[in-house]
Amino acid sequence: PETGCLSIVVLGASGDLAKKKTFPALFNLYRQGFLPSDEVYIFGYARTKISDDELRNRIRGFLVDNKAASSKHSDDVVKFLQLIKYVSGSYDSEEGFQRLDKEISEHEISKNSREGSSRRLFYLALPPSVYPSVCKLIRNYCMNKSDLGGWTRIVVEKPFGRDLESAEKLSAQIGDLFDEPQIYRIDHYLGKELVQNLLVLRFANRFFLPLWNRDNIANVQIVFREDFGTEGRGGYFDEYGIIRDIIQNHLLQVFCLVAMEKPVSLKPEHIRDEKVKVLQSVLPIEDEEVVLGQYEGYRDDSTVPDNSNTPTFATMVLRIHNERWEGVPFILKAGKALNSRKAEIRVQFKDVPGDIYKCQKQGRNEFVIRLQPSEAMYMKLTVKQPGLEMSTVQSELDLSYRQRYQEVVIPEAYERLILDTIRGDQQHFVRRDELKAAWEIFTPILHRIDNGEFKPIPYQPGSRGPGEADELLEKAGYVQTHGY
Ligand code: BG6
Repeated sequence: PETGCLSIVVLGASGDLAKKKTFPALFNLYRQGFLPSDEVYIFGYARTKISDDELRNRIRGFLVDNKAASSKHSDDVVKFLQLIKYVSGSYDSEEGFQRLDKEISEHEISKNSREGSSRRLFYLALPPSVYPSVCKLIRNYCMNKSDLGGWTRIVVEKPFGRDLESAEKLSAQIGDLFDEPQIYRIDHYLGKELVQNLLVLRFANRFFLPLWNRDNIANVQIVFREDFGTEGRGGYFDEYGIIRDIIQNHLLQVFCLVAMEKPVSLKPEHIRDEKVKVLQSVLPIEDEEVVLGQYEGYRDDSTVPDNSNTPTFATMVLRIHNERWEGVPFILKAGKALNSRKAEIRVQFKDVPGDIYKCQKQGRNEFVIRLQPSEAMYMKLTVKQPGLEMSTVQSELDLSYRQRYQEVVIPEAYERLILDTIRGDQQHFVRRDELKAAWEIFTPILHRIDNGEFKPIPYQPGSRGPGEADELLEKAGYVQTHGY
């Protein structure tokens, strides 16, 4: 591992993302010894004029998520907060970034970085509209200057653009300032335990290798549900909608890992090459394979226009034009204000040919990977009903992480991904060509929604979403099974 001083700069330090995700993730890394105090310093940068202590106080409450843990870690919290310094300035101010650079350099000198390299990580917890100016100012004033090596990296959050054109423009602007290995486009779904498990599952298990194709798999669902609406962030959400907020990024990343071919090796570039290929093999989305919804009451939010056409729910079918998947529908479904909070992948297998047990009526084999809550994988299968009768029943082979790995604390996605940025591992980050391919898939339908040509169907908050989505699922060949 590299040594030398590490400066982590959180831009947008007083915003929601920084408070709720970035700083808590940094704290957890600190607590576990990944951010040693003799090397690391954390800078918060934002427009608000506040003192170091005010920033620390704002963050404090978010660092540990329950009271018991909070008292257990109180010493660590105090020490961690001491590592944070605040610099205020606007996102287009040369003077502000010069001051930031001065602070970082002073820290580097005080940590005697001449004996080691200097590493500078800039986390942009900011709206994308300011990315170009912020990146330029970092490039002009805040790059690592150590003669002894080290690096400068930037971490950017979605949304990376609103469609193909704007995303390409943003990519070009940032690409003029930084090389691809310096840019970490974060998608926090790639940091989730069971998402990281997907390639292991597929490529390290003989069970799955021969079955993972159109001969055996009838359909795949990738589902995201939330049981709350867009309260508090209606303004942001209304500009983007559920496709840009969840499907184009989080669900599509999961889709890539489920559908891609085996990479040549585990090198990040090999994995990302395969993800790009499968994205490029996706056929244009058909109108009759899309259902959009908007929950009733969404427009009551004062920050949402009364005539908003923005979907808070979408179900759509992606079809892949290649040897492995032709004819297999991949159903992507995401919704806010539904009846439950859950993210899962459901791989449904075809019926058993020449079924002598007539077990099809009870349901098909299905392999379910529950990303959250309560990580689990289970296989729904047919077994003999225990007892004297020879009848069949659907049951499960169940690997529930909470039971099986009681002693393991599953890291937060952001924690893992920030550690990757420090280590320089880009495997779980979105490459520029991958982003482009992702926008190519959704841009036509997004433009039609933006133009008001495609309207969302109203649904009751707390429901399953519009009934039309279930009909689409059925049409795509999904057979409802019993049990879980
Ligand atoms: C974010 C979206 O990227 O992901 C939010 O902007 C959504 O709308 C969130 O609530 C869901 O993340 P998680 O990890 O809670 O599933």
